[in-house]
Amino acid sequence: MTHDPKALRNAFGAFATGVTVITTRQPDGTPRGFTANSFTSVSLDPALLLVCLAKTAHSAEVFAEAPHFAVNILAQDQKAVSGLFASRAPDKFDHCAWSPGPADMPLVDGALAQFTCARHQLVDAGDHLILIGRVEHFAAAEGQPLGYFRGNYFSIGIEKDLAEAAAATKGSRLGAVLACNNGVLLRDEGGQLRLPLAPEPTLDSLTAKLASLGLSPEIDFVYATFDDRTTGGHAVYYHGQVSGTLPPGFRIVPLADLAQAQVANPAEAQMLARYADDFRNGSFSIYHGTESTGQTRQIGA
Ligand SMILES: Cc1cc2nc3c(=O)[nH]c(=O)nc-3n(C[C@H](O)[C@H](O)[C@H](O)COP(=O)(O)O)c2cc1C
Repeated sequence: MTHDPKALRNAFGAFATGVTVITTRQPDGTPRGFTANSFTSVSLDPALLLVCLAKTAHSAEVFAEAPHFAVNILAQDQKAVSGLFASRAPDKFDHCAWSPGPADMPLVDGALAQFTCARHQLVDAGDHLILIGRVEHFAAAEGQPLGYFRGNYFSIGIEKDLAEAAAATKGSRLGAVLACNNGVLLRDEGGQLRLPLAPEPTLDSLTAKLASLGLSPEIDFVYATFDDRTTGGHAVYYHGQVSGTLPPGFRIVPLADLAQAQVANPAEAQMLARYADDFRNGSFSIYHGTESTGQTRQIGA
């Protein structure tokens, strides 16, 4: 059976991946490299990985012969590096920061992880070669990866970065609507209720604060972002779940009681009423606007 290659490529593209740059040296020592999203981890013991290389690539022969190669997993700010190594430019390494690593393999600076491999096996597979490498050295750093889906780059950390950039202005706050046992976690300030807020307007600060109280939050997505004219700042609230023993000063208010609860902040009261509606309807929405008026957008069940 023959397939339309374009349709097949598009269907393969439905699989979202990260982006890597595969590097090696040709026999005279010149560094060579190409961008690949066909990287897959294969085995932990022995430590094996693979990458597929088109036989039509300029560097195919060099990689087919090379005793070593390296895999560099790109970070979210390395889109230009991906573009550079996806080109056929003869001097790719003159335009990116890199350093020689183990086995003298070229390692791309700023990559999220780097694996230096000895060639384990070379498999002839249709119009590609499968390079299977045995990992000899590796290093990994903190950070967000560069993603690739249907021919476009995407960034997994972008929502978090945007929310934190918005919440970084003066008078801003970052909080969360956290579900727990058919209810919502609220702080009880002498009978007046508030949603949990982060000490600093970052998601890490919110999760660290809740963890210090013995709670385990699981954050899903941004639930509301609005300008609060009463504080002159921006408010960002996430949606998620929480588990753990209820710490002093907190209550779980059942969903059925949310609309009548004594919530101190009117914007939070509105948000909780919307949350109860969303929950009843089995769908979720995102709110954007001001502390009193705005728009909601449905984002699915
Ligand atoms: C995001 C992305 C992923 C890619 N993945 C692969 C891949 O897995 N295998 C491959 O052979 N080419 C892949 N390519 C294309 C090569 O990077 C491109 O053909 C490059 O020119 C090869 O370099 P060379 O000709 O200098 O060897 C990809 C390109 C992009 C932009």
